Amino acid sequence: MGEKSLKMIDFESLEKQNAALKALQGWGAGKSYHIVTYGCQMNTHDSEILAGLLEKAGLMAEEDIKKADLVLFNTCCVRENAELKVFGNVGALKPLKRKRPELIVAVCGCMMQQKGTAEELKRKFPFVDLIFGTHNVHEFPSMLLECLSEQRGILEVWDSDGWVLEGMPARRENGAAAWVTVMYGCNNFCSYCIVPYVRGRERSRTMDAVLAEAAELAAGGVKEITLLGQNVNSYGKDLPDGPSFARLLQRVSEVPGIERVRFMTSHPKDLTEELMDAIAGAPHIANQLHLPVQSGSNAVLRAMNRVYTREAYLELIDRMRQRVPDIDITTDLMVGFPGETEADFCETLDLAERVRFASAFTFVYSKRPGTRAASAENQVPEDVKNDRIRRLVDLQNRITYEENQKLLGTSQKVLVERGSKRGENFYMGRSEGGRTVNLQGTPDILGRIVTVKIVRAGKNSLTGKIEKETWT
Ligand code: SAH
Ligand code: SF4
Ligand code: F3S
Repeated sequence: MGEKSLKMIDFESLEKQNAALKALQGWGAGKSYHIVTYGCQMNTHDSEILAGLLEKAGLMAEEDIKKADLVLFNTCCVRENAELKVFGNVGALKPLKRKRPELIVAVCGCMMQQKGTAEELKRKFPFVDLIFGTHNVHEFPSMLLECLSEQRGILEVWDSDGWVLEGMPARRENGAAAWVTVMYGCNNFCSYCIVPYVRGRERSRTMDAVLAEAAELAAGGVKEITLLGQNVNSYGKDLPDGPSFARLLQRVSEVPGIERVRFMTSHPKDLTEELMDAIAGAPHIANQLHLPVQSGSNAVLRAMNRVYTREAYLELIDRMRQRVPDIDITTDLMVGFPGETEADFCETLDLAERVRFASAFTFVYSKRPGTRAASAENQVPEDVKNDRIRRLVDLQNRITYEENQKLLGTSQKVLVERGSKRGENFYMGRSEGGRTVNLQGTPDILGRIVTVKIVRAGKNSLTGKIEKETWT
């Protein structure tokens, strides 16, 4: 954060917002809302906060978008197709708004933080009532009130990011597993990526704030927490006593009632020995590591500004597996970065073969205006990108299937997260490594950790049979 000082703001102390919430209650009673969330867990978490605020204003969640009194789109702009989807889906609400003019349509999120996009949206879809960004989520109550009482559209997007807000009400979806943001923003400026421009600089929450939230979640029945940040290894660098992420992870894993802690995302350039030791040593830190590599070619990694080499990455994987041989390692891979040659791409395939990721998110490079890579002249043609992504996905699907097969007959601890669409008595949960496990049982297993034997292993999921319940 350099010289800039970080302001901690407590939601309870934001009098204007609390007054707005009170004033909204008359309007909100009996009304309903529907939130459409795009993008990553950062947005998911913001949507939980926005839902929490709406519920404080008296509204209730409505599954059917057509029936809701307020529809909110929380947008993502990490790739172009994410943006196109937003324009399409906001546009699709036009007939509904015409039929029900009292319907409130709001749009927020990362896409609105890009220069000019909020204005473009307003121009294309004048019926949108309220537009705001990622830095003023907490002002939602007062903006909504203004919009309702003055009967005019509001567009308010802030550039400023020098603060961390605590004590926001949140409505969480899942009973047993929860996300907790530990830091906001990103300082890395990978040359393809828009996130640092729309989420601002890195800001860490204090360890006390994170621990208090973890304890509160545990008291509400949460057993698993995923700590979130764009680059969690930078956690604490902006705090006075500079606590490390490994220390935070360890402390959260010791909160009574918390059985499992995971985290996302860790940047390979600063994955520390201390963090690897914590994963290996602490019983409640899950044996899983999401470590996005992006490319297996040093030339491409350099142009991406990832600041590590293929060799350094492979060495990290070795060091991690020496400590925890059966750890599930997952990654993000990208094809078609400007200048990527067939030989570069083959190095990515080779790296995926060598590491054998349990699973991978695979992406086609998408040009993001304003980023360094967007102005590169050697963009890869669409047909080449499409060919490469197909080959990469085929390879990774085969590896994921083979890695799933290796678990046949093993015992896995599964946190049962929810009922499955397959029918009554069918449930879905996650193994410690984060793989999806389907299982059959009675409703009392929901929210509990059960030990299962893996009896089927498919491409996308495993099937387990309950051996015994560990009533934790
Ligand atoms: N902070 C995380 C990633 C956040 S974005 C990290 O550094 O690992 C999630 C993933 O989206 C990235 O890992 C990358 O693979 C992909 N991504 C980001 N920008 C992209 C772009 N312009 N085109 C295609 N994929 C992109
Ligand atoms: Fe984007 Fe890189 Fe930051 Fe991840 S680390 S959010 S890829 S700039
Ligand atoms: Fe998208 Fe914003 Fe996340 S751009 S990937 S929702 S941080």
